[in-house]
Amino acid sequence: MLLPVILSGGSGSRLWPVSREHYPKQFQRFNSAKYSLLQEAALRMAGVEGADRPLVVCNEEHRFMVAEQLYVIDTTPSNIVLEPCGRNTAPALALAALCACDTHPASLMLVMPADHVIECREAFQAAVEQGKGLAESGQLVAFGIQPATPHTGYGYIRRGEMLGTGYRVDAFVEKPDRERAQAYLDSGDYLWNSGIFLFSAERYLEELQAQAPDIAEACRNAYAGRSEDLDFLRVDIEAFSACRSESIDYAVMENTQHAAVVPMDPGWSDIGAWDAIFALKRDPQREGNAIQGDVLLHDTHDSLVHSHSRLVATVGVRDLVIVETEDAVLVANRHHAQETKRIVEVLKASH
Ligand code: GDD
Ligand code: MG
Repeated sequence: MLLPVILSGGSGSRLWPVSREHYPKQFQRFNSAKYSLLQEAALRMAGVEGADRPLVVCNEEHRFMVAEQLYVIDTTPSNIVLEPCGRNTAPALALAALCACDTHPASLMLVMPADHVIECREAFQAAVEQGKGLAESGQLVAFGIQPATPHTGYGYIRRGEMLGTGYRVDAFVEKPDRERAQAYLDSGDYLWNSGIFLFSAERYLEELQAQAPDIAEACRNAYAGRSEDLDFLRVDIEAFSACRSESIDYAVMENTQHAAVVPMDPGWSDIGAWDAIFALKRDPQREGNAIQGDVLLHDTHDSLVHSHSRLVATVGVRDLVIVETEDAVLVANRHHAQETKRIVEVLKASH
């Protein structure tokens, strides 16, 4: 059996002003007109034989949004594990694994971030099927994507010799600098880490214990003090708050000797910043622009123009990101879209 575990913890500050702390990107419809990114993640394994109902890990503050969004797509979660504060993905997955050991001891965990777009569900499901044997044999399986650019926001995986239905991971480098990312891309030996993993809960906890024992212990304590009400599982606030903040990539994947990679090509994108939405929605028939809402463009090229409440008109511009909402407007150079989070930092500091 397979337990989909959906990580829904980010605040999506690089997609400001649409993504907000109280209404982050995963709850919004960035890709399909019908489903939010979270709903798309929940539906990704729906109907697949042997797939359990999903377990979601999210912040306490977002519990009703998660429950409501799953309800409207007729998905009853296995559990919704609530974090009192964000401590990144290594602790979030430790809580999920502890819960899975209790409730789904025979299942593998399929870890899926709530903010990805996957265009071809069948190709994704086939890759997961391919990784099962490796995960059952105790490997921590990452799914790798053929890199297209020297992106510095991803993990890079050096593919080693063949192992079962995939490859041994020879090296895992999380978020390298530009120079190293370029060298990895040029070498042809590396894949991007998709951020999607498959492993047994028990093996994850063992590896976490070996690589980051303090995180494993804090999470065990937090889980020991849990309380449950309806689908919600709350952990001990004090014990979890005392945990170090770290991602699975730095805490476990960079150091473990038991990682494997299965390459996949399901039309994957991490909806990190506006340039990712641009790449997804760019229309060659419309001068390479990606538009939404009430917009009027003249002599405008390779730009993303989104309007939510008013007419937005542009003349003689290129490579811009313009996002209009009722209370804020973003105008950015498309190549600087990643820096939008700086605006959010300044806004937070001034409130
Ligand atoms: N529940 C919970 N709690 N979820 C979290 C937390 C947390 O504290 N922090 C992050 N998440 C969720 C995010 O919402 C996202 O869905 C996923 O975990 C990954 O976190 P990101 O913060 O988006 O990570 P990243 O994009 O910088 O890097 C990861 O993903 C890349 C691919 O998208 C890494 O795994 C990279 O190696 C990888 O290339
Ligand atoms: Mg991400």
